Amino acid sequence: MKHFSHFLLLAAGLAACTTAPPATSPVALAAPTLAAPVPMATPVVASKAMVTSAHPEATRIGVEVLQRGGNAYDAAVAVQFALAVALPVAGNIGGGGFVLYRGADGREGALDFRETAPAAATRDMYLDAAGNVIPNLSTRGHRAAGVPGTVAGMWALHQKLGKLPWRDVVEPAAQLALGGVTLTKKEATGLNDNRTAFARFTPQGNAYMRPDASTYDLGTYSNPQPDFRPWQAGDVIKYVQLARTLGRIRDQGAAGFYAGETADLLVAEMKRGGGLITKTDLAAYQPKWRTPLKGSYRGYEVLTFPPPSSGGVALLQMLQMLEPYNLQAAGWHAPEAVHWLTEAQRRVYADRATYLGDPDFGRVPVVQLLDPTYNRRRMASVQPRRATPSAQVAAGTGLPAYESDQTTHYNIVDAQGNAVSCTTTLNGAYGSKVVVAGAGFLLNNEMDDFSSKPGTPNAYGLVGGAANAIAPGKRMLSSMTPTILLKDNKLALLIGTPGGSTIITSVLQGIINVIDYGQNAQQAVAAPRLHHQWLPDQLDVEAGALLPAAQDTLRARGYQLNARSPWGRLEIIRVLPDGRLEGGADPRGDDNAAGY
Ligand code: GLY
Repeated sequence: MKHFSHFLLLAAGLAACTTAPPATSPVALAAPTLAAPVPMATPVVASKAMVTSAHPEATRIGVEVLQRGGNAYDAAVAVQFALAVALPVAGNIGGGGFVLYRGADGREGALDFRETAPAAATRDMYLDAAGNVIPNLSTRGHRAAGVPGTVAGMWALHQKLGKLPWRDVVEPAAQLALGGVTLTKKEATGLNDNRTAFARFTPQGNAYMRPDASTYDLGTYSNPQPDFRPWQAGDVIKYVQLARTLGRIRDQGAAGFYAGETADLLVAEMKRGGGLITKTDLAAYQPKWRTPLKGSYRGYEVLTFPPPSSGGVALLQMLQMLEPYNLQAAGWHAPEAVHWLTEAQRRVYADRATYLGDPDFGRVPVVQLLDPTYNRRRMASVQPRRATPSAQVAAGTGLPAYESDQTTHYNIVDAQGNAVSCTTTLNGAYGSKVVVAGAGFLLNNEMDDFSSKPGTPNAYGLVGGAANAIAPGKRMLSSMTPTILLKDNKLALLIGTPGGSTIITSVLQGIINVIDYGQNAQQAVAAPRLHHQWLPDQLDVEAGALLPAAQDTLRARGYQLNARSPWGRLEIIRVLPDGRLEGGADPRGDDNAAGY
């Protein structure tokens, strides 16, 4: 094969650089002729403030709140509730998430509003009598739902940092629900694909199942099936029940969700479908303020999310592992760069499976995992021009003695320079597929993010162990990685994405695309991606991510390549040298960026 032999010549020139990297100076490499071209893409630029989110209605509402004098935290609350209406696949009030922020005054914080296991949850609740995982029990239906954290999280964020009255930041979403949302083609397809599941888990009908008219009030609706026709782009859904629920949240704050009518409806839904969440669980739910993790990469300070996310730890580990390598000289997605990226990812995901879980339920060795000596030692086993089989890679040992596919992300920067990076989730697409009757919102299936049985993969193929076993009140391990980069103590970049286990590697590649490869925000989010998570031992490859010659080369090195349909919806806001804001919104979805 012509391109293959060409590569071998090039690889011979690179061979000397492929073992453990030098600790300090970058490696000089031959011309990266096997590097894939990065497609051109034009970002949105604004002079004062910007929002990027997965839905134009949510972005619009966020920008309007900023223009009315709200700050980034007000806009975050408004965007979160707007996504619960406009983006049912992932936006939510029935799920959870993580907010990372950095104020214009330099103060930073991390708010964990992750779901918790209900009090009645048990370690083996998804296993049969023989100890095997019962298919789908942790991913679909009422038992898959953890206690939602979103409304408590938004309330806590607003109480601490918001400027406008609470009702003013919730009202736009209630209005959106009443006025209706026009479906795009992608959204119509998603709802149609899930109709059977909606019908199974909510037989009384819900707003996501199409009746005979383009709009209707669920309060009068009874039997969706006979008049069914699929949703089409341009159809409008009015979410009447959800609007009422948002009205209660607007008027009563967090109590509008965790007590009173909404709690009654949620618990009635649990009883109907055999779920575990009780009024006591709802009353007991508390979001938690945590300390952001800090690391660095090529002169940037990296702020990211601590456990119960695995994302921040894993991201900082990978950045430490990759910093000594000259990715830029190797070329974008050239075999040598892919080799380093993949070997770092493989090792970090092995650590994730063993060590990470809810820090409130067991010691998570964060400091040790972020020890530079440890991470350099992990990369010392990387072989030149040869994949390390995952079977030969276990979690690292000898940690230094001392002493954590559907989600959505939004970024906001306001005119004062306050910055919010938030990832929020129902877990799978449309979560558990359970819509709370009378309240009109979808419940998460986040319980699947626990390790139901050590060594048995979850919906994302991730394995885990005791650190992430189910226990009442515990938070399930997450991959969500809302991240903010600073340069010279000034805001430089906000980034995050959905994508389950791929979140961490997508955020990693977004950062590298900007810092190492000089891509603009839109190029960096649009560029095709790669992903390796230790197990299964395969390198997932989006179309266009690797040149054919690079694919041959990587196969020859022992990599199992797996062509995979696009994943993630990466969002970036970058601060340009002149202070303007550059937004990148992932073209894989209906995402958009806007500002003023
Ligand atoms: N449910 C996806 C995550 O939290 O990683």
